[in-house]
Amino acid sequence: MKGLILSGGTGTRLRPLTYTRAKQLVPVANKPVLFYGLEAIIAAGITDLGIIVGDTHREIKEAVGDGSRWNARVTYIHQEAPLGLAHAVLTAEEFIGDEPFVMYLGDNLIIDGITSLVEEFRESDSNAQILLARVPNPQQFGVAELENGRVIRLVEKPKEPRSDLALVGVYMFDSSIFSAARRITPSHRNELEITDAIQEMIAMGLTVDPHIVHGWWKDTGKLEDMLEANRMVLDRLTPYNRGTVDKRTTIDHRVAIEEGAVLEGSYIRGPAIIGCNARIIDSYIGPFTSIQRDTVIRNAEIEHSIVCEGAIISDIGVRIEDSLIGRMVELKKAVARPRAYRFVLGDRSVVGIL
Ligand code: G1P
Repeated sequence: MKGLILSGGTGTRLRPLTYTRAKQLVPVANKPVLFYGLEAIIAAGITDLGIIVGDTHREIKEAVGDGSRWNARVTYIHQEAPLGLAHAVLTAEEFIGDEPFVMYLGDNLIIDGITSLVEEFRESDSNAQILLARVPNPQQFGVAELENGRVIRLVEKPKEPRSDLALVGVYMFDSSIFSAARRITPSHRNELEITDAIQEMIAMGLTVDPHIVHGWWKDTGKLEDMLEANRMVLDRLTPYNRGTVDKRTTIDHRVAIEEGAVLEGSYIRGPAIIGCNARIIDSYIGPFTSIQRDTVIRNAEIEHSIVCEGAIISDIGVRIEDSLIGRMVELKKAVARPRAYRFVLGDRSVVGIL
């Protein structure tokens, strides 16, 4: 079996971070969200992986490399334009060949992994297996309608959903998906939808098995979803200390401290992770916070947030919460007169001040 990870797309809902970075590389507990999918596929025993890339191909390649870090082989497949998930599948036809494969959307995160699901598909003789999860907002997903445990209809982002079963961004196919994808036409958003291609498989009389996912799953398209994913992963964190913690610092609950991190005069209430070479000085880091490498937090309080590498936060008088702070951001108290806020904010930045 092969693996196909989709890592194109523009990530409009995560702007401004995605103006300068692939959405699949935004970190969850200090690891790019893409790596969770990649590692889940590898854990299921699949080591021949294709990654579909678009405009952000350089960054993705730099982050993932050739896969040898995971004892896997990664082939990059360029999709010239984001023309839909079924289009991406067709782009990968040569790479996939006749083998069955698992397709994983690079911004999805399934906390329990996919090993048993891949096993189930390997042992079945169905042409596709789709994963479904009950959601409160099915209009925002592909939606499946089941009858007697079989999939009878799939509709992409229906205005009036006929069930609350959303398509999770992980699919297993045999090579019949290619002929189905060739038979469909672009949707109103001008994309070849994978949902329509699977519906076409059903119309062709092929077997599509549903599997309902009960564990936690998220499509990390928006800020709230990123923070929730961060929370779920940190909730399972194994604590360790590879950094330097002085006597004035209190570590409360589960905290992972990476190599070279320095903590002085601070209070860290986990679950939280402090990245390599980060410096946390006279600060409070609260639950569900991920601080990435090379950051400096000085005389500040931050909780339920993600702080990306190289950011500096200092002398902020009010606690920072529910925030996603990009790379190299500087958030400092202004001391110079006249007393004023001074901002350098990129397009679509969001700032809430007191
Ligand atoms: C895509 C699929 C949709 C699926 C979702 C899961 O949506 O088209 O059917 O439910 O992924 O993450 P998109 O992220 O392209 O809006």
